[in-house]
Amino acid sequence: EADVLGKLPLKGKKILITAGPTYEAIDPVRFIGNHSSGKMGFEIAKAATNLGAEVFLISGPTSQKVSHSLIKQIPVVSAQDMFNAVHTYFNYCDIAILSAAVADYRPKEVAHQKIKKKTSTLTLELEKTKDILASLGAIKNQQYLVGFALETNDELENAKGKLKRKNLNLIVLNSLNDKGAGFKGDTNKVTFIDDEGNITAFELKTKSEVAIDLLNKIISHI
Ligand code: CTP
Ligand code: CA
Repeated sequence: EADVLGKLPLKGKKILITAGPTYEAIDPVRFIGNHSSGKMGFEIAKAATNLGAEVFLISGPTSQKVSHSLIKQIPVVSAQDMFNAVHTYFNYCDIAILSAAVADYRPKEVAHQKIKKKTSTLTLELEKTKDILASLGAIKNQQYLVGFALETNDELENAKGKLKRKNLNLIVLNSLNDKGAGFKGDTNKVTFIDDEGNITAFELKTKSEVAIDLLNKIISHI
């Protein structure tokens, strides 16, 4: 796109974005998932291209749609698929924003056939998935790495812990306490916490407004 006014601050930058839920198979017809809409990640992708960036949008199952010459979409299903896709593109990117609601656990064994109802109770054994964000924090070079934190209690403490433990440059704390905020709706109430100790709390905003605030924050740091 023509940068006639010199107002494309992300021109030439490559941004990796994860979005949506992941689905973890139980058997051929069932999965464990969550209610993430994917909207936050898609809004970040759109806002980033408006600022001139090239985007790699790695998304779990979602009804969100976007079509833009600067967005390469990589659809995935499971946390392991997302891990693999993220590691395919990360070295090539300048910025990574991991907004996906990745499943923390998956069935330890996936049944090859549909599980029939027999017993009155059924126990599934789950095992941890890989932490994609932490795996990037462990290998990053020059990349600016952004994570999200979804918290219901001890929000700031928990988010600061994730920032440090996962070696991030910035974490976006998503408050689920507030009416209208959450990963299903169109609005979020967020707080930015960066690796220099700066904390900025925002009012309830639409996800597209949050996306712009986030990219402005990143631009001011790179
Ligand atoms: N994340 C990830 N891979 C996972 C789990 C989480 O990349 N397997 C990322 C999310 O995309 C988000 C950040 O880690 O950017 C924080 O996710 P969150 O669920 O808030 O934290 P967890 O570290 O999973 O801890 P917990 O759910 O116990 O609070
Ligand atoms: Ca989690």
